[in-house]
Amino acid sequence: MPSHPPIITPMTLKIGIAGLGTVGAGVAMILRQKAALLAERAGKPIALKAVSARSQKKDRGINLSTVQWSKDPLELAKSKDVDVVVELIGGADGVAYDLVKTALTNGKHVVTANKALIAKHGIELAKIAEKKNVSLKCEAAVAGGIPILKTLKEGLAGNQFTRVAGILNGTCNYILTVMEKDGYDFDFVLNEAQRLGYAEADPAFDIDGVDAAHKLAILAAMAFSTKVDMKSLHIEGIRHITATDINYAAELGMRIKLLGIAQLAEGGLELRVHPALVPLHSPISRVDGVLNALEMQCDALGGLFMEGPGAGRGATASAVVADIVDIAAERGGTLYNVSASALKTLPVSPMKKHCGAYYIRLTVLDKPGVLADVSAIFRAKKISIASLIQKNREPNKPVEIVLTTHETNEASMMEALKKVAVLGQIISPPRFIRIETL
Ligand SMILES: NC(=O)c1ccc[n+]([C@@H]2O[C@H](COP(=O)([O-])OP(=O)(O)OC[C@H]3O[C@@H](n4cnc5c(N)ncnc54)[C@H](OP(=O)(O)O)[C@@H]3O)[C@@H](O)[C@H]2O)c1
Repeated sequence: MPSHPPIITPMTLKIGIAGLGTVGAGVAMILRQKAALLAERAGKPIALKAVSARSQKKDRGINLSTVQWSKDPLELAKSKDVDVVVELIGGADGVAYDLVKTALTNGKHVVTANKALIAKHGIELAKIAEKKNVSLKCEAAVAGGIPILKTLKEGLAGNQFTRVAGILNGTCNYILTVMEKDGYDFDFVLNEAQRLGYAEADPAFDIDGVDAAHKLAILAAMAFSTKVDMKSLHIEGIRHITATDINYAAELGMRIKLLGIAQLAEGGLELRVHPALVPLHSPISRVDGVLNALEMQCDALGGLFMEGPGAGRGATASAVVADIVDIAAERGGTLYNVSASALKTLPVSPMKKHCGAYYIRLTVLDKPGVLADVSAIFRAKKISIASLIQKNREPNKPVEIVLTTHETNEASMMEALKKVAVLGQIISPPRFIRIETL
């Protein structure tokens, strides 16, 4: 690693990185190791000038002795030696928000990987960036290394979207993949994932779908040029998924994935994060482990599928550096695919209006008439059954019945399940998972 200071010319784009953890140290390494290549691609030198983190003593695997050190990250937002502040601290509020807002207000470009910040404060921050004629970019915030935001905003600029969907959380996809492969239940695999470093010590943001929801909110704002209020998203995680459901899904020719879906529907824009059964013929069903994937439907191009690493040092730093190079090459553009003040407010279609197929698992006492009672409730709600599995029949012992339905309305499905739940033969609350044909 070269320890000599980078040569600064009047053209040089000067970078300040706040946060030197997994991503920040990765960005510093690429800027150093590929300085010549990046300068060629950007048309000007890009130099790391200043950094900030909590501990100056920690070994980051990179020689930072020639770089200015600030204990307070806000110093980067005020420094004359910094043109671009790269925020890699994290968190929707607090120091990350103060840093980005101050940097933009002071006329500095900002690159961030912080989905929580952009999902919550993106519009306010984008307006400041536009007023100050600087760039705010966040490619790494959605699906890590997959260049999805660039694809939506630039590569597909001639298209209108009807759906953007995907696997947006590698931790959940890893847990579901291992549950399927090894047959273990959720809690066991989560503990293993934590031991191996694939899940945080506090995994709630990932496994409860919040991280995927932040990414979906950013994707939806870009694809549909709309303001997205986090409160309008339907969010379910994967805690309730069992190895039993995964086995039944396999028997039905499907796999269970945590999906984020933004889709135009009759009632407006559906914005939902939830586990879903996906048929094996769908490319998204074959995305395994910590990988992420996106599926888009748009009018001129048709369909597009992208798969790749959604997290990790190299993948995330790759996306951050791409944003820095864009700024150096004066390809900054706006945060969204339109100016922040031109974003519409599309109505969000409530979940009860969602139309789709369902997987239902019932645990019942095997007494005569139970199936007839369930069928009668479904018939009354105009829900038609597509398939049925019933196993382990022993008189007066619990038995599992698994049903899939044809497309129906979510409100009807929920009303039917409420009625099924109080039938005398039902032992535990009915389980349901939506079926998606992406
Ligand atoms: N990790 C990924 O794969 C990934 C993928 C996509 C997006 N992201 C996003 O990238 C961002 C950074 O993630 P990360 O995984 O790199 O986090 P991380 O490893 O926890 O690193 C955070 C860094 O921020 C520094 N920091 C924390 N509080 C600070 C403060 N008050 N002042 C100055 N520095 C402070 C820490 O300093 P010390 O090192 O001294 O403690 C550390 O270097 C987050 O927004 C995250 O959501 C991460």
